[in-house]
Amino acid sequence: MNTVVTQTEDAGAAASAGPTDALGTSAAQARSAVLEELIRKDPGRFRVLTGDRPTGRLHLGHFFGTLHNRVRLQELGVELFVVIADYQVLTDRDVADNLLQHVEELVLDYLAIGVDPARSTIFTHGAVPALNQLMLPFLSLVSVSELNRNPTVKDEISHSRQSAVSGLMFTYPVHQAADILFCKANLVPVGQDQLPHLELTRTVARRFNDRYGAGSAVFPQPDALLSSAPLLLGTDGTKMSKSRNNAITLAATADETARLVKGAKTDSERHISYDPATRPEVSSLLLLAALCQGRSPEQVAADIGSAGAAALKKVVTESVNEYLAPIRARRAEYGRDRAHLRAVLSEGNERARAVADATLAEVRAAMNTCY
Ligand code: TRP
Repeated sequence: MNTVVTQTEDAGAAASAGPTDALGTSAAQARSAVLEELIRKDPGRFRVLTGDRPTGRLHLGHFFGTLHNRVRLQELGVELFVVIADYQVLTDRDVADNLLQHVEELVLDYLAIGVDPARSTIFTHGAVPALNQLMLPFLSLVSVSELNRNPTVKDEISHSRQSAVSGLMFTYPVHQAADILFCKANLVPVGQDQLPHLELTRTVARRFNDRYGAGSAVFPQPDALLSSAPLLLGTDGTKMSKSRNNAITLAATADETARLVKGAKTDSERHISYDPATRPEVSSLLLLAALCQGRSPEQVAADIGSAGAAALKKVVTESVNEYLAPIRARRAEYGRDRAHLRAVLSEGNERARAVADATLAEVRAAMNTCY
């Protein structure tokens, strides 16, 4: 695979905003290889926090980008916390539309792919008061100019649908530090657009410990685990995104999938070959089929040869539908039991609240504010 670029939804455009190493990508990649080795040896020493904004259903870009990695870590024995970042939806819009529905869709997606609520904690950060209270001392530890420099926030501001930048847009990376540090997570699987936020989280943890820790560390400095997820394009040849109507969602039916793939952009060359640089749309389709088949995109291309784009699309549709069939079946099953969904979430929130309360108590003790 040539195009090994990581991605996350919505903020992902930042990845192309400048030289990737301005974000520390290559250092994070090297560190991630070391971490993978440590995880294999001793999964019990890691606690992972990761999550998504509830703005719509998750799609194949998310799936191959980060979701399957979460389940992989869970299966290796790592403790997993998944935040549904409901407040974060309000960074670039005035109103969080259909929030409850989007939250439930995310829970469904997580359960369908195999996040196990008996072992992993799924929660909404809005429901965890002590987590949110950490935001105040954390804000005191960062300067306005540091907030101003965050390349991912800058990029989001430039794409925002609001005319004015809200205080939350400007400060949400500090809130994200609270998402991560409230449970003392030491590992955060991210796409490269999230690296600046993780760097800020490390800074907050370090400064808190220096200022209030009296020689002992209240917070760990979490590591980024950069996934080597390939970049999948949407069916229009641009970044796959919830908001662009170019994404194959996990929840889509087989027919919807067929329709989307049928309308996908390709090129006029009949011979199908994998060449991401010169044939991005065809290559992304090949990659998608290859990921579903567990083979290389070159092999998939060789199968199709000179049969053209229609044959390619047929292969893609069949591969995706076959791969997603069990996930979709589980999703439909869980979807019939809304009470169960609510129970998963309220149990997750309860667990998160207990963890956050304990951390806030430590923070209060360290800051000498127990009254
Ligand atoms: N910012 C992430 C996104 O938009 C979502 C998120 C919120 C998150 N809090 C987090 C990711 C903490 C990792 C850790 O995709």
